Amino acid sequence: MESPLHGPEEADRLDASARSDDARIKHLERVPLFSGLSDDQLGRVAGISKIVEARAETVLTRMGEPGDSFFVLIDGRASVQTQVGVGDPLKPGDFFGEMSLLDGGERSATVIAETPMRLLVIKRRDFSTLLREAPELTQSILATLSRRVRQAEQALG
Ligand code: CMP
Repeated sequence: MESPLHGPEEADRLDASARSDDARIKHLERVPLFSGLSDDQLGRVAGISKIVEARAETVLTRMGEPGDSFFVLIDGRASVQTQVGVGDPLKPGDFFGEMSLLDGGERSATVIAETPMRLLVIKRRDFSTLLREAPELTQSILATLSRRVRQAEQALG
């Protein structure tokens, strides 16, 4: 099966589910990140998203590898291992993978599925479209990024 994802750490590890835009919109409506979006914006986000399923123990991003996708956890739980220790576990509604897309750098953390899960996946070129289509998302993403930086600073002592 062709993977909907790009990038060595992501290829061939996730199964694409063929779903309609309507099904994707239903998932998007439940994600806090997208809660302020209009129906039109949600429709456009649905158009650039894929829903993928991952088994428990799937490595979703691997620290040090290049990354090409942004992920929103629809259900399930993932662990986060960074250079400075264990990060907050990711739960439904949480997103990850934004850092490599924003700065072009390597994945900053290894994120592993702890349970079977469904994820919404947006590829690099569409991530730029997403931020253009829904500029209000930038603020939420920056807030989360700031929290992660603070957490890393605290972990360093
Ligand atoms: P990226 O570096 O692209 O890939 C790994 C992702 O893990 C990273 O983007 C963030 O989305 C996420 N991440 C990094 N550090 C933390 C942390 N301390 N807590 C939760 N998630 C993190």
